[in-house]
Amino acid sequence: MTADLFEDFTTSEPAQQALAPGAVLLRGFAREAGAELMARLDPVLTAAPLRHLVTPGGHTLSVAMSNCGPLGWVSSRSGYRYQALDPLSGRPWPSMPESWRALAGCAAAQAGFDNFAPDACLVNQYLPGSKLSLHQDKDENDFSAPIVSVSLGLPAVFLFGTPQRNDRTQRYRLQHGDVVVWGGPARLAFHGVAPLADGDHALLGRRRINLTFRRAG
Ligand code: SIN
Ligand code: FE2
Repeated sequence: MTADLFEDFTTSEPAQQALAPGAVLLRGFAREAGAELMARLDPVLTAAPLRHLVTPGGHTLSVAMSNCGPLGWVSSRSGYRYQALDPLSGRPWPSMPESWRALAGCAAAQAGFDNFAPDACLVNQYLPGSKLSLHQDKDENDFSAPIVSVSLGLPAVFLFGTPQRNDRTQRYRLQHGDVVVWGGPARLAFHGVAPLADGDHALLGRRRINLTFRRAG
């Protein structure tokens, strides 16, 4: 048994933790489905390989990204946007695996958001040292739908604040199988990920995969 699993079983943290009104951490919600979720990862990433996007300001993101579903999030020198075609291939993004969509819908419902129908899933790969600066998810057309974020692989420190950039952020350790849902009054909360610590996850090795489901269109 790895240290991480051991910690899961000995932790006294509640399975469901409110981060803010409208935001909840569902600990271990995707742990049982983890193997099934990961089995769908390689086909998605073969069709739409991970790549390091450039921001409008000219910085290259340390997190490698891809997408599946009808819409995909991309960044370039010309801005952030959702689009139906992968700019690398010129083809539609791979379809969203049914098990991914179902898991996201169940997590949203568990958090109080019924009928969540994601049309975009951003796949983020963090290697040791990768981080994601504080930001809002605000390129979607529909803020009535929540964001559902699934963590797989190495643990990360997730920063979660409020819709005001300068408010304090809280830090949460996200482990393999944890799901965070934020919507309603928390929908535009600033959030980010601290530089990933090195480690070796039993199923995913030296990386963290995050799946973020959105209603974009
Ligand atoms: C994101 O904000 O898109 C990703 C969050 C995460 O990796 O946990
Ligand atoms: Fe985000």
